[in-house]
Amino acid sequence: MAASTFPTTTMFDWYDRHGRSLPWRHRWPDLAPAYHVWLSEIMLQQTVVTTVIPYFLEFTRRWPDVCDLAAAEQDEVMAAWAGLGYYARARNLHRAARIVCGEHAGRFPDEVAGLRGLPGIGPYTAGAIAAIAFGRRSTVVDGNIERVLARYFAIATPLPAAKPEIGVFYDAILPSERPSDFPQALMDFANAVCTPRNPGCETCPLAEECAARHAGTPESWPVKAPKKIKPERSGIAFVAIAGDGQAFMVTRPERGMLGGMLAFPSAGWTQDDAAYDADSPFASAPFAADWRLAGDSVSHVFTHFSLSMDVAVAGIEDPGPATDWHRVRPASLPTLMRKVWTVARREV
Ligand code: ADE
Repeated sequence: MAASTFPTTTMFDWYDRHGRSLPWRHRWPDLAPAYHVWLSEIMLQQTVVTTVIPYFLEFTRRWPDVCDLAAAEQDEVMAAWAGLGYYARARNLHRAARIVCGEHAGRFPDEVAGLRGLPGIGPYTAGAIAAIAFGRRSTVVDGNIERVLARYFAIATPLPAAKPEIGVFYDAILPSERPSDFPQALMDFANAVCTPRNPGCETCPLAEECAARHAGTPESWPVKAPKKIKPERSGIAFVAIAGDGQAFMVTRPERGMLGGMLAFPSAGWTQDDAAYDADSPFASAPFAADWRLAGDSVSHVFTHFSLSMDVAVAGIEDPGPATDWHRVRPASLPTLMRKVWTVARREV
């Protein structure tokens, strides 16, 4: 099927009727501020819209423009990001804000090449910001758009190898009108109609022309390379709680899992750790104490592995004047550590 036959007018009509109102979204010919588009796109990498909305609102309330964010302490930004995951995103976000504020007078580059120079901005995000904030006809292909195009054109190449091919289809159908609305229309459509499972073909305005629909099995697209089985890891976290309720916590190394986040000491579960030996669970405790295992362990799924984490707890009479004791604020903890805290506090 020729790429030029994609019904863009139908897509815009659908978007005008059913597109979501989102706090970072403006409608053509209005363009959303680049700061809002950038912030939302970084948050939306690996995270769904409903989770992102309250974080976006809180960030823009606390830091109304990019130079406010640049002026914040990194710890504050990391704590505000807690729960969104993939913490390298937050560090890069802060670094990028400092570059935009310090080197570009607070203005984001307005085209893909300049945007690519900023930390945390890859080809998708650069294309999205250029299109949505600056009205450029850039290539914007995320997993949602991939799905719509792979189905509409019945692209047989499996993902991820099909990505460049899907990019070529996108460029071929990209209209010259409403460049900021087009990718967002496709994303909302993918989310509401052309869903991964049980796509709504019965009411789909593209169904007549959709090659996957004609083949009778739209769910078979995009074709995917076989999934690797997720490995399972185990580890242990140590929660020492002082008489005043404060807990012993460390800032994790910048590089690696939960990088830069405040966390309970833990062992055995990252690639840099020695493997966890459940027969001598306290071997890697941060200090000698009357450690005991909590009745429950914690399960958490990361992108590349599943984790089962034991939780060791100890009450500490006299923690001394160390600076590593903190009042625990669950909202500022990464989700894994929030789960650890929930188990530990039942024990002490
Ligand atoms: N996912 C990533 N960016 C998005 C946007 N601008 N609108 C809806 N979903 C998105």
